[in-house]
Amino acid sequence: ELMAAAAEVLAYEAAESLNYAMSYPGLTDQIVARLRDEGVDAQPEQVLVGYGSGQILALLPEIFVEPGDVVIIEGPSFLGAVKRFVQSGARLVTVPVDEHGMDVAALADVVRSLAAEGRRPKFIYTIPTFHNPTGVTLSLDRRRQLVELAAEYGVPVVEDDAYLDLRFAGEPLPSLAALDQAGWVIRVGTYSKILAPGLRIGWVHARREVIDRLLMVKAEGTTGPFITRVVARFSAAGRLEQHIATLRRHYATK
Ligand SMILES: Cc1ncc(COP(=O)(O)O)c(C=O)c1O
Repeated sequence: ELMAAAAEVLAYEAAESLNYAMSYPGLTDQIVARLRDEGVDAQPEQVLVGYGSGQILALLPEIFVEPGDVVIIEGPSFLGAVKRFVQSGARLVTVPVDEHGMDVAALADVVRSLAAEGRRPKFIYTIPTFHNPTGVTLSLDRRRQLVELAAEYGVPVVEDDAYLDLRFAGEPLPSLAALDQAGWVIRVGTYSKILAPGLRIGWVHARREVIDRLLMVKAEGTTGPFITRVVARFSAAGRLEQHIATLRRHYATK
């Protein structure tokens, strides 16, 4: 199916896909549609596609962090993200994870004690659903508390939901982005776990001002004119959802 999608792009969109080009809106529209299905009030201008969520996770500290600024992470966390935060010079503060996900009460203590010193973390990085590396999922109560805490203290929450779509048992929980009314959640997603990591396609949904700042530091501007079209053609007409259903059965069996 990927071969067919790639052949279609070459047959019908060769000029646009093989040249330097503007970002391809077709894939952004699909991402927006999936976010809306998830309950997020998403708009195309709030989405930026990048070379994997890894690129997004590298760009976020560029716009938020000066050396010495505090970034809060879970302990343990995904090394690929943590390394990028370290490179920005952030001072990482770790909050423990238990069987219900990040300990949001401990997080609140950290945020409060920083506020008492007149400091505010630049962002909180969390993997709320099927956390890497522990596999735990943040409970609904804690999700609500986290979103409230972010709004109360004005701290962005970077929600890395690489595994959200792979649930094969139990009831899905709302993403932090779906619970967020105030716009503090920066939702990062990827096609790596639902299609193929080698495609290097990820995305971010955030307030427009965050997207604008990310665009200023994303040196190449656009992302993969060819590959974004391949992914969009592969995914069209419900095919991505069918593929995800197949993956879920596969993981359940494993
Ligand atoms: C939590 C998490 N985020 C992001 C990624 C990387 O995603 P990408 O391939 O989109 O850079 C991974 C890959 O293991 C991951 O576990």
